[in-house]
Amino acid sequence: MPTTIASAPGKVILFGEHAVVYGRPAIAAPLSHLRATAVVQDGPWDGLILRAADLGREAPFEGAAADDPFARAVQVVLAAAGRPAPAGVVISLRSAIPIAGGLGSGAAMAAAVIRALANHLGAARLAADDQVSALTYQVERLLHGTPSGIDNTVVSYERPIYFAHAEPHNRVEPLAAGAPLRLLLADTGVRSLTREVVADVRRGWLAQPERFEALFDACGRIVAAARSALEAGDRPALGQLMNDNQSLLADMGVSSPELARLAEVARSAGAFGAKLSGAGRGGHLIALVGPASEAAVRAALQAAGARALLASDMAPAGERPGFRD
Ligand code: PMV
Repeated sequence: MPTTIASAPGKVILFGEHAVVYGRPAIAAPLSHLRATAVVQDGPWDGLILRAADLGREAPFEGAAADDPFARAVQVVLAAAGRPAPAGVVISLRSAIPIAGGLGSGAAMAAAVIRALANHLGAARLAADDQVSALTYQVERLLHGTPSGIDNTVVSYERPIYFAHAEPHNRVEPLAAGAPLRLLLADTGVRSLTREVVADVRRGWLAQPERFEALFDACGRIVAAARSALEAGDRPALGQLMNDNQSLLADMGVSSPELARLAEVARSAGAFGAKLSGAGRGGHLIALVGPASEAAVRAALQAAGARALLASDMAPAGERPGFRD
């Protein structure tokens, strides 16, 4: 039975979330050891079957709800390839990325399905990074409403990027850290929906355009400074910029008591800096640590009730980023 497998990583937004929806730049990095995987297999199935392996659920593609992101990922590939739904095929999807935790699980699942199905259908052109990114963006629009395009880009190219939304083409530049950077990812345990948080920021911007434009501009300046600090491997400067970005995000109304508390705990225990990552209101806090502070920050975050702690490394140019529990 011919089988095709593809996977895509989760991601963290290091700087510039939300403001990136309004044309300001942002910086994101893949989480290469936290992945979504899609397996496409031919066999004696009736029609095309979508299997969400983690949920133990399977259902035919035909008749899937219009807002089902799994079915939408399949649909965008079929439309781009000009092909009908294949019969006698099952697509199984698994993900190790927490859902609604700000780590890009939706984009990674879509990218994995798109790349696996495109390859399975022999549409190699659609399995190239730029096409996977463009098709994943179409699925993200269903989930988010007005996505900037940063999530689909970082999970499809799987490298740290400086990103700015622009027409007709986004600005995407690969970045390399000047020194190894270790992030701790602490789960608040609170799930939030990106779509809702993004819609709340839009309401704020519509009600107080000057105030929000000023906040977005300040985020843009932080991203410019962070890019230089990242490339220079200057961890104290990066940490301070993370703290500054966090306070702007709190002013936008997208932090939460849990995020604010974990950020304070991480800083007091010696982290260079800490901020929310992604949509906010819940999800994960990211803290930049060094070899001298890592153990103390870990212990403090755990004692403060962080649900799960992961560590992610951004490696200097030429090295693959590492990742561990
Ligand atoms: O919550 P996430 O991981 O999907 O990140 C969303 C990032 C935002 O800037 C809030 C939205 C966007 O489309 O860029």
